[in-house]
Amino acid sequence: MLFWRVKPLDLILKTAEKKALKRQLGAFQLTMLGIGAIIGTGIFVLTAEAAQKAGPGMMLSFVIAGFVCAVAALCYAELAAMVPVSGSAYTYSYAVLGEFVAWLVGWALILEYAVAASAVSVGWSGYLVGLLKNSFLHIEVPAALATGPYAGGVINLPAVFIGLLVTVLLIRGTKESAVVNAFLVTVKVLALTAFIILAIPVMKDANFHPFAPLGNAGIVGAAASIFFAYVGFDAVSTAAEETKNPQRNIPIGLIASLIVCTIFYLLVAAGAIGSYGAQPVFAADGSPLSPGSMELAARCKELAAGENLPLVCSSEALAHVLRMIGHPMVGNLLGLAAFIALPSVILMMIYGQTRIFFTMSRDGLLPPILSKVHPRFNTPHVVTMMTGLGVMIAAAFLPVGKLADISNSGTLFAFLVVSLAVMMLRRSDPTRHRPFRTPLVWIIAPMSVIGCMVLFWYLPRDAKLVFPIWAGIGLFFYFIYGYRKSHMKPGNEPVDDAAPVLPAAPVFHEGPEPGP
Ligand code: ALA
Repeated sequence: MLFWRVKPLDLILKTAEKKALKRQLGAFQLTMLGIGAIIGTGIFVLTAEAAQKAGPGMMLSFVIAGFVCAVAALCYAELAAMVPVSGSAYTYSYAVLGEFVAWLVGWALILEYAVAASAVSVGWSGYLVGLLKNSFLHIEVPAALATGPYAGGVINLPAVFIGLLVTVLLIRGTKESAVVNAFLVTVKVLALTAFIILAIPVMKDANFHPFAPLGNAGIVGAAASIFFAYVGFDAVSTAAEETKNPQRNIPIGLIASLIVCTIFYLLVAAGAIGSYGAQPVFAADGSPLSPGSMELAARCKELAAGENLPLVCSSEALAHVLRMIGHPMVGNLLGLAAFIALPSVILMMIYGQTRIFFTMSRDGLLPPILSKVHPRFNTPHVVTMMTGLGVMIAAAFLPVGKLADISNSGTLFAFLVVSLAVMMLRRSDPTRHRPFRTPLVWIIAPMSVIGCMVLFWYLPRDAKLVFPIWAGIGLFFYFIYGYRKSHMKPGNEPVDDAAPVLPAAPVFHEGPEPGP
């Protein structure tokens, strides 16, 4: 029963053909789309969390997480090129492993996208608060209204606000044009470049010692968390239906965006550690404090009275480093860059989420109301509102690191299934045309599977627990609803052409949208 109701690849491809979105994205635009979705809270904020777990050893954490993403991306690329339709990992699983696994993957992707949107909202909030404080107005947002109960606050209002704003924009059908996306990517890349130029030359050897204050486990644990910084490259595959020559361009977009980001991340991490130092903060009795905990928040409050607030205590890590190494103006500008650019990551994530829900609903696995399209705005407003609400609630009360870890648990599961699917499809359908073949697949794909399992294992306990509970809830829904209503169940096939059409991706689609 595990691998039942496999949706034939040819049927999936036929559905995609019918939708006929305008194919207008090339390799360069896809790479920009990837970079736009990847660079966000991970590098701008979670660098502090990684340092708290690994100290300077977080350099290696970035390498490990980047490596796992690279091998997973090579697997993604084979499927994305072969099945260039939306729905990404969910759709590939449906074609290879059947409905049951596809459901689990779709359900896990909710964690990846929606929870990631919450994490980035909280990251944005940290930068907003820092900007207001360091601006010439010196506005102090009360801590009670800018953090959740985990750090002694009540609610993170700025995070709720940005979640709401993005949701409203998506409901109204706002799309980022190619120009806006290119601008935002440039802003982020310039900010990171400025950071590298200022931080690398003042690196001190001493700041790298001790290199691994919390041991190898700390380094792998930080890799499991900082993995979040790389998530988003799969957004490239969600634009598959709008890509020119997807067989060539999707693999290029996936891999090129990942390579560019990895180079930036390694340089930024080296700069942050070497120029300012990235040692963890310990409790008075010398025990390690976990990121996002009340204990760490309290200890940081004590340290804030001193001159040099450690990197790990900052909620705007990179801006903080620049301010501390004598570049307050550039630090503020970097803060401004994060403030301007992070909302587009939230937009991509919420959009990605609505698209997965939409595809699942179109397949009959979720109620049809979720694929309802607004008559005037031509957007899936119901599912966008629902997603937005979930994103806001999580962002209001949870710390950024915990949200990122939860998001990682879902993403790692999806990547693992994709890597398995590549191998299974090589066996079950070896003659199918593969425009991009994962190189050394019998080495790369197992490495991806093992890498995902190891990172999952090293996630904090709460995140690891959330995943099976979430999957259990998903299975309950599957058996009371999806299993019976699936369009793959004999007798449930939709009338031809009755399936709703997805509105176009928010990025780059400048032509008129196809109607519902
Ligand atoms: N990789 C994205 C970020 O770091 C999700 O914000």
